[in-house]
Amino acid sequence: MPKKASRKSAEAATPALLADPAGWGFDTRCVQGGYAPGFGEPRILPIIQSTTYKYDDIDHVNRIMTLQEFGHKYSRTSNPTVAGFEARMNLLEGGTAAVATASGQAANLLAIANLVRSGDHVLAAAQLYGGTFTLLNSTLGKFGVTASFFDPEAPADEIEKLVRPQTRLILGETIGNPGLAVLDFEKLSGIAKAHGIPFLVDNSLATAWLCQPFQFGANIVTYSATKYVDGHATSIGGVVIDGGNFDWTNGKFPDFTTPDPTYNGVVYAEKFPQTAFLIKARAQFLRDFGGCLNPMNAFLFNLGLETLHLRMPRHGENALRLAHFLGQHPKVAWVNYPGVNPVGKQRIARYFRHENGSGILTFGIKGNLDAVRRFVKRLRVAALVVHVADVRTGVLHPASSTHAQMNEQELLAAGIPPDMIRVSVGIEDITDLIADFDQALT
Ligand SMILES: Cc1ncc(COP(=O)(O)O)c(C=O)c1O
Repeated sequence: MPKKASRKSAEAATPALLADPAGWGFDTRCVQGGYAPGFGEPRILPIIQSTTYKYDDIDHVNRIMTLQEFGHKYSRTSNPTVAGFEARMNLLEGGTAAVATASGQAANLLAIANLVRSGDHVLAAAQLYGGTFTLLNSTLGKFGVTASFFDPEAPADEIEKLVRPQTRLILGETIGNPGLAVLDFEKLSGIAKAHGIPFLVDNSLATAWLCQPFQFGANIVTYSATKYVDGHATSIGGVVIDGGNFDWTNGKFPDFTTPDPTYNGVVYAEKFPQTAFLIKARAQFLRDFGGCLNPMNAFLFNLGLETLHLRMPRHGENALRLAHFLGQHPKVAWVNYPGVNPVGKQRIARYFRHENGSGILTFGIKGNLDAVRRFVKRLRVAALVVHVADVRTGVLHPASSTHAQMNEQELLAAGIPPDMIRVSVGIEDITDLIADFDQALT
């Protein structure tokens, strides 16, 4: 928690820069990163269930309100428990600062809104979570922000043809939900760099345990913390992390280089060279949109992170074994899992920290939609849920649920055939899962 930092400048004191001085390994960061209790203080990140913070003089409050000094003032823009969680997420990703939000949707909205104005354009991989697709394809359009979608496997020159003078962002998901394509980071970051636009990666389904997108040219990373960060299906939340590696002064982003009259004329790119994106997002958009994470959920996410490095390998091992089993089953038409398909394996070898494809796989059942209905009804260990990344195994039929808003063409572009069943493989005994899928299929 940034408690000892109250006399430092706003940038120097953001939780992000309170990095562990010892340069801990990933697992230690999962367990202890971001919160360093002093003598007699709670060992566990405490839940500070307070909207409000007390000050002694009006000048101190003024310095905080005008971004001259960091301090919690009101929990819509920061809170000590939330700051502890943000700091840990930032350490795991290797960014310069993080802000937590009320949901993954709020995280993507916050990140995009922080970059665009009416008239601007966003370029997005077509394999996206359905909510992100509707945000870009429908809702943001009402505010004058348009989006184009590209096949993430298309050659760079084809994707580049979609870049316009007004394009302000290119984005994709590390592992597309539910198409499961692993991003070609080098190709997309190359396009972003060539056009002076930031590259945003939604890392929800991979997590930093598998992939750290800043190492491969991402400038902003977002999360639905609701997924593997929580891991236990208890809480909704999100995170935006700043890579501190984009030049906001390249002429395309005047909101970063001209005075913000709502903060006494602060110029974000000048005052906060490493964390301009994040401080502007927090200062302007958490203030104006709301969308903040509550301390209870930050506490639960923080607890979730403490076992991330133990859960992720098990999710991956179980998913790989279930993928092999389904691949040989006579009632199964096809199986897709990044850990077994050739392109997925190649990208995993290049970009992932472990030879593992996360816990999500998809498959098709031979027969019509009734075969899907029967299969889902018969499951006993796995359950039909609108969720992924839980320790319990869940299944879903995306075409009739999370992606029901898409037409057939959009579904196919998003990598969602009508018979697709998405499985979020949990950490139960794999023998029980295989037996369950076998009896439900046959
Ligand atoms: C990749 C991805 N990003 C964002 C979201 C939205 O997150 P939330 O449900 O926490 O709002 C989801 C939800 O499934 C997702 O899968």
